[in-house]
Amino acid sequence: MLSIALLLSLVGIALGFDSCQRIAIAVSSATDVYYPGSSSYVADNEHYAISSSQASKCSVEPGSAEDVGIVLGILGETKTAFGVKGGGHATNPGFSSTIGVQIAMTRFKEVTYDAATQTAVIGAGNIWDDVYEVLDAQGVNVLGGRVIGIGVAGFTLGGGYSWLSNQYGLAIDNVVAYELVVPNGTVVTVTEGNDPDLFFSLKGGYNNYGIITRFTLKTYPQGAVWGGLSSYNASYISAFNAATVKFCSEVTDPKAGMLIVYGYISGEVLHIVYLGTQIFYDGPTPPNGIFDDFLAIPALEQDVTTRSFFDLINSTSASINLSAGYRTVYNEIPTLNYSEANIEGIVDEVNFWGRTLSAHGAFVVSYALEPFLPSLLAHASAGSSAYPGSRKQVVLPTNVNLQWPSESEDSVFHDAARRTAQKLGVKGVPIYPNYAIYGTPVVDMYGEEGLGRMEAARERVDPDGVMFLTGGFKV
Ligand SMILES: Cc1cc2nc3c(=O)[nH]c(=O)nc-3n(C[C@H](O)[C@H](O)[C@H](O)COP(=O)(O)OP(=O)(O)OC[C@H]3O[C@@H](n4cnc5c(N)ncnc54)[C@H](O)[C@@H]3O)c2cc1C
Ligand SMILES: *[C@@H]1O[C@H](CO)[C@@H](O)[C@H](O)[C@H]1NC(C)=O
Ligand SMILES: *[C@@H]1O[C@H](CO)[C@@H](O)[C@H](O)[C@H]1NC(C)=O
Ligand SMILES: *[C@@H]1O[C@H](CO)[C@@H](O)[C@H](O)[C@H]1NC(C)=O
Ligand SMILES: *[C@@H]1O[C@H](CO)[C@@H](O)[C@H](O)[C@H]1NC(C)=O
Ligand SMILES: *[C@@H]1O[C@H](CO)[C@@H](O)[C@H](O)[C@H]1NC(C)=O
Repeated sequence: MLSIALLLSLVGIALGFDSCQRIAIAVSSATDVYYPGSSSYVADNEHYAISSSQASKCSVEPGSAEDVGIVLGILGETKTAFGVKGGGHATNPGFSSTIGVQIAMTRFKEVTYDAATQTAVIGAGNIWDDVYEVLDAQGVNVLGGRVIGIGVAGFTLGGGYSWLSNQYGLAIDNVVAYELVVPNGTVVTVTEGNDPDLFFSLKGGYNNYGIITRFTLKTYPQGAVWGGLSSYNASYISAFNAATVKFCSEVTDPKAGMLIVYGYISGEVLHIVYLGTQIFYDGPTPPNGIFDDFLAIPALEQDVTTRSFFDLINSTSASINLSAGYRTVYNEIPTLNYSEANIEGIVDEVNFWGRTLSAHGAFVVSYALEPFLPSLLAHASAGSSAYPGSRKQVVLPTNVNLQWPSESEDSVFHDAARRTAQKLGVKGVPIYPNYAIYGTPVVDMYGEEGLGRMEAARERVDPDGVMFLTGGFKV
């Protein structure tokens, strides 16, 4: 078998076939290669942010871990640039796209719950919505994304702040095993027990070690939840700020969670400051007192109710889709607390960048506050994961999200995302890789010691540097 594949690929070279054609010849019938003009090629290259999509030479949808190994072997041998896409939600350009060979993991759709071990095996091509829908029906849940569309793979390989994080930690704290295809083509199962350094490194290390095909995640019982989206007229900003400060400093119930959004969004009439919340309680009704101050503010729109976890996530589809198709950049503003002074600082930045960037066609200028409990990082031990570089202190991953239509304005928006994080962010604390803008030094995410451990693991599993042919944060 091997020699036939080798022979065919040599013929491929001799005839001037490119890597795409070599791959098409070498893989099994479970895998397909697509070219411009096919709808699968379009879907494989598509990303949440239009600025994260590129026109690849071809796309590959591997259908088995063994075929992923064959693909990596050919890409390594031919030194072909490639992209690896899970849910395609990376906002950094080139992190999961390429002008070379686009690998789309979409055929890895498995979601299998095992009641005996309280774990679920989740294929790396899933988006969380699909996972929740399957697991909800079985009365269990895993730690995944808080809105529609996010990929399991990138989310889980970069950290993962979930609605269940106050109860169970980050998504990476809940990984039991990775099925990983290392660059030499071997399929390995990585656990704490069989390869502690690689297990550690994959908890934050993305595509530096090969391509992950399946995750085994801890599951938890899941019943009905309460929550949803609300938006408010900016004229209520004082009451909104006060409710925010109170929620962030006083609520200690780990079943309660919020995303609190301050935005400057182009409306039909004028630019307005937008105040929004996504509320979550892990139970059919929240205890009195937790969300009352927010609920007392008259809402423009409100969709807060008792529902399934899947429905809570799916209910974000309208607002998330509003922003699809724009150029987008995220950055993290590492934050220690949401005191009144810190919130005022954020509101000033929203107004400043809202006005400034409106002149450059801004569609969205928004800052999401992400309150978590001080116990968030105590659900796993120090040194158990590459991210965060330190678990001494919880850093709240305030997220700045800018969206605009014109490519010629990219540098203005990228620069703004850096400047606002520089101005508001706390220095010397671990940066969240899933929000960090490209160019952020990896040592700021993993720390010196963790980065050293990650580099040693990378040299061991990828001695030829095959994974440097793909984009992303590199160790
Ligand atoms: C609208 C929106 C909401 C978000 N909400 C949250 C949230 O609630 N909590 C949170 O923590 N984060 C959130 N994020 C950030 C999100 O976690 C990251 O963008 C994440 O990396 C997306 O994963 P993905 O698979 O969709 O991305 P992709 O763009 O497909 O991949 C991201 C990175 O992972 C690599 N990768 C993907 N698949 C594999 C694989 N199988 N093997 C190896 N490497 C792989 C890619 O090469 C790329 O470098 C949000 C982002 C967006 C755009
Ligand atoms: C918001 O409040 C202002 C001031 O009270 C009012 O003029 C405006 O019409 C309100 N906007 C909406 C969308 O309700
Ligand atoms: C998800 O939300 C959309 C938009 O509100 C709705 O049309 C769709 O029916 C929902 N899906 C499910 C499975 O409930
Ligand atoms: C949102 O966008 C996704 C991806 O383009 C699409 O599948 C979905 O149907 C859209 N949902 C709504 C409510 O428009
Ligand atoms: C809140 O964070 C700021 C830094 O942003 C810090 O100076 C202040 O002491 C913190 N306050 C509390 C109560 O922790
Ligand atoms: C491939 O890499 C793995 C992980 O580093 C290693 O265990 C294995 O021996 C390698 N196989 C070959 C054929 O080099």
